Amino acid sequence: MPAVTRNIGLSLGADICWPLAFEQILADSKLSLKVGKDVIDFACERVGLEPFALEKGCKYDVVVDRLTHWFKLQREWIKKGVLMDDLYVYNNPWSVQSYEKHTSYCAMTALGMPVPKTVMLPQKKYGELSDLDFTLEQYARMFELDTIGDGLSYPSFLKPFDGGGWRGVSKVDDASGLGKAYDESGQDLMHLQAAVHDFDVFVRAVGIGPQVRVMKYDPSQPLHGRYLVDRDFITKEDEQLVIDTTLTINAFFGWDFNSCEMLSKDGVYYPIDFANPCPDSQVNSIHYHWPWYVLSNLKWAVFNAATNRKMRKTVDFEPFYKIAAKDISYAEKLAGYAKLARERMSTTQFETFSNKHLRPLEEAAFAWFRSERCLEAIRMKVSNVFPEHEVDEFTAKFHALVMKSVDDLQAASK
Ligand SMILES: Nc1ncnc2c1ncn2[C@@H]1O[C@H](COP(=O)(O)OP(=O)(O)O)[C@@H](O)[C@H]1O
Ligand SMILES: [Mg+2]
Repeated sequence: MPAVTRNIGLSLGADICWPLAFEQILADSKLSLKVGKDVIDFACERVGLEPFALEKGCKYDVVVDRLTHWFKLQREWIKKGVLMDDLYVYNNPWSVQSYEKHTSYCAMTALGMPVPKTVMLPQKKYGELSDLDFTLEQYARMFELDTIGDGLSYPSFLKPFDGGGWRGVSKVDDASGLGKAYDESGQDLMHLQAAVHDFDVFVRAVGIGPQVRVMKYDPSQPLHGRYLVDRDFITKEDEQLVIDTTLTINAFFGWDFNSCEMLSKDGVYYPIDFANPCPDSQVNSIHYHWPWYVLSNLKWAVFNAATNRKMRKTVDFEPFYKIAAKDISYAEKLAGYAKLARERMSTTQFETFSNKHLRPLEEAAFAWFRSERCLEAIRMKVSNVFPEHEVDEFTAKFHALVMKSVDDLQAASK
């Protein structure tokens, strides 16, 4: 049988802990899979930043990319790899680049999701532009900010149309607060969104391919306390709705790895922030959930590399809009979107493949998380973000949560 090596590249920024876990677990697993006529093993390395010529091939079969957002060189290298070298990358780089938070609200509202009422505002200030005065004099329409604020009622949230990491987000409680926040927004393009006030539960759902983790979240806590460890905190029916919503969003935009925030109130799950491709994967914020992230990421990368699964180079919205146009209830539409999403994510093939081939990967992961190397990786990350006198305390805290999680994952996998 021909021996084949599939190469997985990690395109990284300031990531410390999860790449160590990813690389070491993959190496420990010594995966050697009989797939079709081949015996496949896997190599993994970190992608460097360097000049590249168009005709230079790409050695990677799959790239897990964390840099596309803000590193143009890497973004262009990834696009070139997809267009010329049959590279599979998560996430679709064009989609990450162009579908911002506001566009994601538009698309999901069109599919019928209960996105809170949102109004886009012209930016408060503009930079130097040669034709600016002419354009504004001719076309900028006067508007009453107070009327818009009253229309959405208070409180509401003023936030950048392309936000992330809570940058520039203000909760406004009245007309004067709105005026002040708008004045301070400067050249940022902002939208105003009705608040889901006094919500019952804040849910964050992360999808990695067809795998979804539903987590409870508390935005009022410091960073390390926001992801709660609760499991089964909503009904199975609600959990299914959250999973189907997440898969729909991710498949629609071609995002393999994305986080969706939803606030539930009186039985309705309002999606408020779901354009978060490649979300935070660091142990100091996701702690208890970290082993799931690492293992799911590995499984999805190995599956795509081993099966040579082709990446969708273009997004295709039309089948979703066809379902949206049907004269059926929203619940039926969502079931239709989610079915389509599962097909796009090769869910059945992935599950069959995982059951048949990925047990050694799971075993290697459980052993790694229980090893000294995991503790070291956690300490390394903690040392990077906490003051020295807190390093021991937080290393021990996150490590204990990781151990608890591995116990739970292992029990569930038996
Ligand atoms: N419509 C809303 N209702 C209630 N809380 C909101 C709403 N929009 C934003 N928030 C709060 O503000 C935080 C940041 O807003 P979000 O849209 O998630 O921005 P970012 O993309 O920067 O994370 C949210 O995590 C949530 O706590
Ligand atoms: Mg958010």
